Formats: sequence, structure tokens, C-alpha cells
Amino acid sequence: MSRPRRGDTLSVSIDDLAFGGEGVGRVNGYVVFVRGGIPGDTLRVRLVEARSRFGRGVIEAIETPSPDRVDAPCAYFGRCGGCRLQHVAYPAQLAFKEKQVRDCLERIGGLPPFELRPILPAPEVLGYRNKMEFTVAPSAAGPALGLHEAERYDSVLDIERCLLQSDVMNTLLAETRQALRARGLSVYETGADGEGRGLLRFVTLREGRRTGQAMVNVVVSAPDVQALAPVATEVHARVPATASVVLNVNDTKASVAVGTEEHLLLGRDTITERLDDVVFEISANSFFQTNTVQAERLFALVDDACALTGTETVIDLYSGTGAISLLLARKSRHVYGIELAAAAVADAVRNARANGIENCAFLAGEVRHALPELVRQGVKPDVVVADPPRAGFHPKALATLAALAPARLVYVSCNPATLARDVGDLVRQGYALEWVQPVDMFPQTPHIEAVARLRRA
Ligand SMILES: C[S@@+](CC[C@H](N)C(=O)[O-])C[C@H]1O[C@@H](n2cnc3c(N)ncnc32)[C@H](O)[C@@H]1O
Repeated sequence: MSRPRRGDTLSVSIDDLAFGGEGVGRVNGYVVFVRGGIPGDTLRVRLVEARSRFGRGVIEAIETPSPDRVDAPCAYFGRCGGCRLQHVAYPAQLAFKEKQVRDCLERIGGLPPFELRPILPAPEVLGYRNKMEFTVAPSAAGPALGLHEAERYDSVLDIERCLLQSDVMNTLLAETRQALRARGLSVYETGADGEGRGLLRFVTLREGRRTGQAMVNVVVSAPDVQALAPVATEVHARVPATASVVLNVNDTKASVAVGTEEHLLLGRDTITERLDDVVFEISANSFFQTNTVQAERLFALVDDACALTGTETVIDLYSGTGAISLLLARKSRHVYGIELAAAAVADAVRNARANGIENCAFLAGEVRHALPELVRQGVKPDVVVADPPRAGFHPKALATLAALAPARLVYVSCNPATLARDVGDLVRQGYALEWVQPVDMFPQTPHIEAVARLRRA
């Protein structure tokens, strides 16, 4: 049978979800990816891409819907690039994430049997995010504040209400848009000559879910404090939870919501958030877990996995702004955090001081350099926690860790593929994988978090 060609219309039964959340089906053995397809669907799709080993189709009609198919609660679903699984019933989203973790560990890790604990569901499946980044784009009505359309980096949807953030943040979004429009401020755009012109680039909102304090960060191309100060006053008057309005300047061509220079427009330059009973001061550019409620549960799981008695030396690799270090410090003798971003280390040090935590030290640097240095200084950890970025461990860092041979290792991962690769290596170097537990930090999206506990065999 000849392989399907671009433009063909096919009937496809979806039997799996791929890593990024696309449906996967087969037509006479030929693999077809379909965005919006879910296992149990039979779909009529038009093939828009036909490579030798797989194709990609768009849905023309749902012939038979999957029993797990639900109506997406958001009006922008399908067009917005933000959520990809809103049309999947929550129990099926959880089953998909659990399966991805199992498949990766079995396929990539090649591991002996271990316990895969059931995924920890999120208590809030909507309204859980404490931070949202909106792009500013031109529109006939004035600045549009929204999210990029799926697969399109040149088109921004003017979002009235994003269901992943709270009602307060949605009000803040509407009032900020209104205030920016009322002042007739220009929007940054790149012209045909490749040069950027105009002022407004991004608006990032944050909210301390445990404190109610909100922050508006307007990212602009120039430090025009005069133009933005009245916007801050107006937003604060309409949304009293606004504790901080800052302006960040990004005058580079890079389309990122990070500034090189910050100006305070109103209130303080940080907001406060709490995880358990540890208080964090969060500035516009600091990293902080975006799902406060589920972060507490994730870190409680890490805490349990560490099984600390108060006498242990702990190393927290990839420590960010120190959330894990500070939570574990209360139950250990000493914690050393290692983190690449100097600004995050500064936040961690400040947060330790603010909480009266004195048994934590933070080192700025790459794990592959800073960890051997710590070892040279004679630090011998009983427990190591690692929460690396998606790429996982650098091979040199993993080799140093394996040679250090702590009795217990707790690995927090946001990418099951690199988790499987690294855990597979550690098992070959004398560790036993005791259990893995996926945790759903980001309902409605395909992102997967998991905690693994290993012990020196
Ligand atoms: C998933 S975050 C960890 C967040 C942290 N557990 C927290 O809750 O604040 C990963 C962190 O690794 C840091 N990082 C990335 N590459 C690194 C490297 N080679 N060495 C040290 N830190 C690194 C990033 O800056 C980021 O803060």
C-alpha cells in the first residue's frame, strides 16, 4: 500500500498522545500526528505534512469522539498556544502524564523493576498560575495584551480572560490594558528594516497566592517612567491588591520579557509569597514556582523522600531561589545550594536571612564546576536533592555526583526523558531506584513533573 500524500483525507483512529500532547494514530502502519486528537477518537484528517516516516494532519471532522473528550472551558482553546489539553477530561490528562513517565523510564532508562506511584493530581485544575506573561501587540482598539496563537509567533490573541490565572489577575489584566489604551502608548514592533520601534513589549502579572499581593511588570523598550507612572496609579486605584508596579527595560532585539534595567513605578519592588511557613520576596525577574498550591505538595513529597532527622548534610543542586533548600533547612544540619543564576542566588540568600535561616549556604556556578569544589572543601552530603532544568544533568556533573555517593538522592524533574537517562546512569553506577511519583503541576498542559528517590545500593 502506498504511503499517504500531502492533501490526502484519511480516517485515523487515535491511540496515544505524544510528548507535546498531539494525538497519534496509524493508517496502514503510517504514523500520523494530529493536534487536538485524543486516544479513543476516530477523526477525519487532512494531511498537511507527509514525511517518509510520519505525517501530520488537521482535523476536518470528529467521526467518533473519545469517551475522554470534553468541551474545553476556554473560548480561546485551539487558537491560543497556552493550553493544549483542555479538551481532555482531567483523569485522562493524569493517566497520559503517568504513562509518559512510565514509558520514558522503561524505554530510555532500561531500568530494573521499581515502584511507579500514582500521579499526584492538582487540587485546582484552573486558576492555579501565580504568574502570567502577556505579549503586547498592536490592534485597531489600541494595545492588545495576550498570548501567541498556537504555532504562530507573529500573531497575538487579545486575551480578555485567561482561565489559568485567578479572577484578581484577570481584573488586573483588563485594567492594565484599559489604562495603557487610555494613554495612547505605542506598541513595540519590528519594521521591515529589522529595527524595533514603539514602547510597550510585555506585561507580566504575578500574585502571591498566600498573601494576595499582586505585581504588574511592564516591559518596555525605553525607560519612559513618565509615560507609565499614571498607568500604575490608575491600575492601583482600580485593583487595590496591586502591591507593586515596575517597569523593566528591554532595548534589545530579543523578544523576551526580561529587562536589563528596572524602575519602580508604585509600591514595593517585590511581592511576598509563602510556601508552607517560609516567606519569599519575589522580584519581577526572579524565578518562583508558578503553581503555589501544588509546589507546596511537590516540596512536601521531596521532604518525605529526604527522610531527614536533623543531623544530615544536604546538597540542593540547581537550587534556583532556594525554595527546596529553605524548606529542608529546618530539618537538617546544613544545606548547600548550587545555582547558576547569580540573581537567583542573591534572592535565595536574602530569603534565608528574612526567614532567620542560618544553616544554608548558596554557591553561584555550574553544578559541574561548583559541586567538585564543594567536595574539595570537604563537604560530604548524606542526601542530595537535584531539580535540574529540562536538559537534565551535564555528564560531568552526574559523574561527580555518582562518585560522591550520597546515601540518598532525590531527583525532581520537569522532563521524563532526561530523568530516565540520568536515573539509568545512576543505577548503572550503583544506585537503586526506589520509587518515582509524577506530580501534576500544570493541568491543561502537557508539562510533566516527577520526583524520584534513589538509594546507594
Ligand atoms: C527547575 S529550576 C529549579 C528551581 C528551584 N528548585 C526552585 O524551586 O527555586 C532549575 C534551575 O537550574 C538552574 N541551572 C540551569 N543550569 C544550571 C547549571 N548548569 N548549574 C547550576 N544551575 C543551573 C536554573 O537557573 C534554574 O534556577
